Amino acid sequence: MTDLNPQAKQMADESMVRNLAAQAQAIWPQEVEFIRRYALPPEARILDAGCGTGEITSRLAKLFPRSLVLGVDIIDAHLDLARSRHADLVPRLSFEHQSVFELKAADRSFDLTVCRHLLHSVPHADRVIAELVRVTRRGGYLHLIPEDYGMLHFQRGRLDPRDFWHTVATSFAAGTGTDLFIGRNTFGILAAMNLEGIKVDYVVVDTIRVPRETFASIIEAWRDGYAESIGQLTPFTSESAVEYFNQMLDNIRDPLKYAVWMVPVVSARVPQSGVA
Ligand SMILES: C[S@@+](CC[C@H](N)C(=O)[O-])C[C@H]1O[C@@H](n2cnc3c(N)ncnc32)[C@H](O)[C@@H]1O
Repeated sequence: MTDLNPQAKQMADESMVRNLAAQAQAIWPQEVEFIRRYALPPEARILDAGCGTGEITSRLAKLFPRSLVLGVDIIDAHLDLARSRHADLVPRLSFEHQSVFELKAADRSFDLTVCRHLLHSVPHADRVIAELVRVTRRGGYLHLIPEDYGMLHFQRGRLDPRDFWHTVATSFAAGTGTDLFIGRNTFGILAAMNLEGIKVDYVVVDTIRVPRETFASIIEAWRDGYAESIGQLTPFTSESAVEYFNQMLDNIRDPLKYAVWMVPVVSARVPQSGVA
């Protein structure tokens, strides 16, 4: 059977906890404007599928003060951290151990179903999306952040980061059975399911819109969490992966240089008549 969680080790690492905090700081201020567009009922039922440490689950509960928000994940340590950090939002906010491949909710349970930074890390992203659609009510919204490792751009230094991302994204994906270009491929999956109002927007994490140190924290956490497996799954050694990441960090921290990560935010509505 395919390993449904090939990034289990990295997802559970302490570097991921740092990363999720930095990503939320970098991305949420722009992303929230896309979320405000959804016409949700005041007591909206919201699912955060693959919620990690609850960074965004809790922000959603605060943004919609009468909503009922459920975060699900398969890493108990993340769920425990989320529960302890956000106890003040109980009982509107809760966290449960559930897999996005097999959610416990009945069909059409949620007004808004969110799934951020997960689809690139699992095989069969289309199966996960179908499960998210199943639990979303007719007329409800899907809100996805499917990462795309062809959308990271750095300036060239002694090393050329284009070589790194080009090779790493392709061979890491092949080694884990995942799609590291799922950002651009999600539109087609949603269109084939006859979802309505499909939008592909971008949060721009760059050295102008986001504090350089926040952006750097994301790359540092990737270096600390992924250099070892890059050494195992790609033609790069772990040591050379660290060198590339360190050069990207120098680029981000240099006030005379520019770097950007384009983060796709893909949304759609489940049609009133159901899906194909
Ligand atoms: C990069 S984190 C993103 C966390 C959160 N969505 C955020 O944006 O802060 C991806 C999360 O997906 C979770 N995950 C991976 N496979 C899963 C599955 N089959 N079911 C539920 N969660 C899963 C991981 O455990 C991890 O916490």
